[in-house]
Amino acid sequence: MKLKGRVALITGAGSGFGREIAIQMAREGAKIGVNDIHRRAVEGTLEALEQIGSEGLALEADVGNVDQVKRMFEKTVSKWGTIDILVNNAGIAVKPEWKEYQELHNRAVLKAVDEVMKTGKVQESMKVTSAFQDEWWHATLNVNLNGTFYCTREALKTMEVKGRGKIINMASITGVQGEPNVPAYAASKGGIIAFTKSLAKEVIGSGIQVNAVAPGYCGTPLLNSIDQQLLTILKTQIPIGRLGTAREVASLVVYLATDDADYIVGQVIGVNGGLGI
Ligand SMILES: NC(=O)c1ccc[n+]([C@@H]2O[C@H](COP(=O)([O-])OP(=O)(O)OC[C@H]3O[C@@H](n4cnc5c(N)ncnc54)[C@H](O)[C@@H]3O)[C@@H](O)[C@H]2O)c1
Repeated sequence: MKLKGRVALITGAGSGFGREIAIQMAREGAKIGVNDIHRRAVEGTLEALEQIGSEGLALEADVGNVDQVKRMFEKTVSKWGTIDILVNNAGIAVKPEWKEYQELHNRAVLKAVDEVMKTGKVQESMKVTSAFQDEWWHATLNVNLNGTFYCTREALKTMEVKGRGKIINMASITGVQGEPNVPAYAASKGGIIAFTKSLAKEVIGSGIQVNAVAPGYCGTPLLNSIDQQLLTILKTQIPIGRLGTAREVASLVVYLATDDADYIVGQVIGVNGGLGI
């Protein structure tokens, strides 16, 4: 058990990568603070932890809300006395209520693909950013980037005193190489990468390792909004020929949280089936 007795707080742990990270860290002996904005999602992960005989703490909170984040860290430290590992995993690409954006995005990509098939090149701008609404921009940046900052700030208050800690941020291949039609998501993930590298240099003197994981396309509910035809096209571009799984991303995150990864500092590690070579 490589994380025996360690206290981990995982954001967005009610689904996809976050739930799998919680389960895998619990199997390694960690106590898990289970954060999610949705109560039912938190409960589902706590049930999974209970089944493997592990200790979990319900932390229903919006990571984009400073006061809720502060209360969530206070609750964790008051229960377990410390925080050893923070995984900033909560993230959104598109909200279910943003139907207009989903349609705009899917239409733009399929049109571009059609143009390439017929003429060999894209004929004009995909015109998503010029129609992008302020609400979509601010909400995405607030959850993905502000949320990462708010949680990190609270975790550091404990880790800097303790002189030890692991922070793992969930970036994306989109933040590394860019992707058309997702301006806010790409900016948030690019921001997370720059934040990770800068912070890693700042806090390593206190024995705190900060790294990021940058997955490619993986089969989680986050991809539900993508048009099926589009997903089929996407898969053809992934050298390994399939989507990734939550298990494959989680195992890297768990490794980064262990002492085995102590010499890995400020890195952005891809898990992408070869998409980012
Ligand atoms: N699935 C992919 O292909 C993929 C690829 C690259 C990066 N990622 C990133 O991985 C992370 C996890 O995504 P996933 O694929 O597991 O998606 P997911 O939708 O299954 O899980 C995300 C979780 O975050 C929670 N969440 C959303 N807003 C929140 C908030 N404000 N506060 C707290 N919790 C909130 C959701 O309720 C959900 O349970 C995200 O940061 C995402 O951007 C995913």
